Amino acid sequence: MSIKNIRIEVMQTLEKNIDVFVDKFLIPVEKIWQPTDFLPNSQKDTFIDEVKEIQEISKELDDDFWVVMVGDMITEEALPTYESWLMNLEGVQQDQEKDPENGWAKWIRAWTAEENRHGDVLNKYLYLSGRVNMREVEMSTQHLIADGFDIGTAQDPYKNFVYTSFQELATYVSHNNVAKIARQKGHTALAKMSKIIAGDEMRHHIAYSDFVKEIFKVDPSEMMLAYYYMMKNQIIMPAMFLRESHAEKASLFDQFSIVAQRAGVYTGFDYVDIMRKLNVLWGIDKISGLTPEAEKARDYLMRLPDRMYRLAERAVLPDTAYKFKWMNQI
Ligand SMILES: [Fe+2]
Ligand SMILES: [Fe+2]
Repeated sequence: MSIKNIRIEVMQTLEKNIDVFVDKFLIPVEKIWQPTDFLPNSQKDTFIDEVKEIQEISKELDDDFWVVMVGDMITEEALPTYESWLMNLEGVQQDQEKDPENGWAKWIRAWTAEENRHGDVLNKYLYLSGRVNMREVEMSTQHLIADGFDIGTAQDPYKNFVYTSFQELATYVSHNNVAKIARQKGHTALAKMSKIIAGDEMRHHIAYSDFVKEIFKVDPSEMMLAYYYMMKNQIIMPAMFLRESHAEKASLFDQFSIVAQRAGVYTGFDYVDIMRKLNVLWGIDKISGLTPEAEKARDYLMRLPDRMYRLAERAVLPDTAYKFKWMNQI
């Protein structure tokens, strides 16, 4: 059987448990938090005072912090890109043609619904904060969705689940660090909001890494090679193609990434840490029955975190004060 057909078969086997996965890893709409729970209630007389308070304390946080918040929000708002990309995976697409109500489509839609709240709450909060130029932010969001992205996985579900396992953990780290900084500055509402988003990301990370664990059980060599491929090429961040208005695609990422590292929200050390966690979580040192090629891939993956750590240690961050249009006064 071809590699592609084996993947489709593995996806169909996993799909039999979709209802279990949905119940275990996702939360029904009526039970989960909603953006409004963390925002001033616009139906109440206290609304204006609460907004004024947010605007006052928002002055306490520096521009680097707000730039990171904007980038995090925009990448959450690019959700249509991620949903349509997941719907095209091998094993999802074929099933959809047969039955639009198939299991994987159900998972992806329910996951998308959960994710939708992240960009929503952050967007509203940024708007109320009075610290950012929302029109510029909106144009960057629209560009990112229009530009789409290529994370180098094609339609391979194995590579994609490595990507989502990694990326959900990376967003956990990022939102969690934002929560810590906000708390230190006495910005309690923002801290709570970021913390609860981080909690969702952790739950999603556990789900996607569980799918990978299951695949390791039935197709270990191919799963190892997919993991190797993704890590060797490095995980591309959803912010990769960020741009400002009137600028070229991807022209903002380098600056954004430096600011995120400088603010301590997401650094090269976090990247290494995530790799280490995935190696342990999937117990890759203990996986047996591998082909010689997959054995080699495993050895590479075991050594990679230390190599990347040394690179992160050597990295020098410039202290340039970048001018982001997101921070321009209107
Ligand atoms: Fe999210
Ligand atoms: Fe997530």
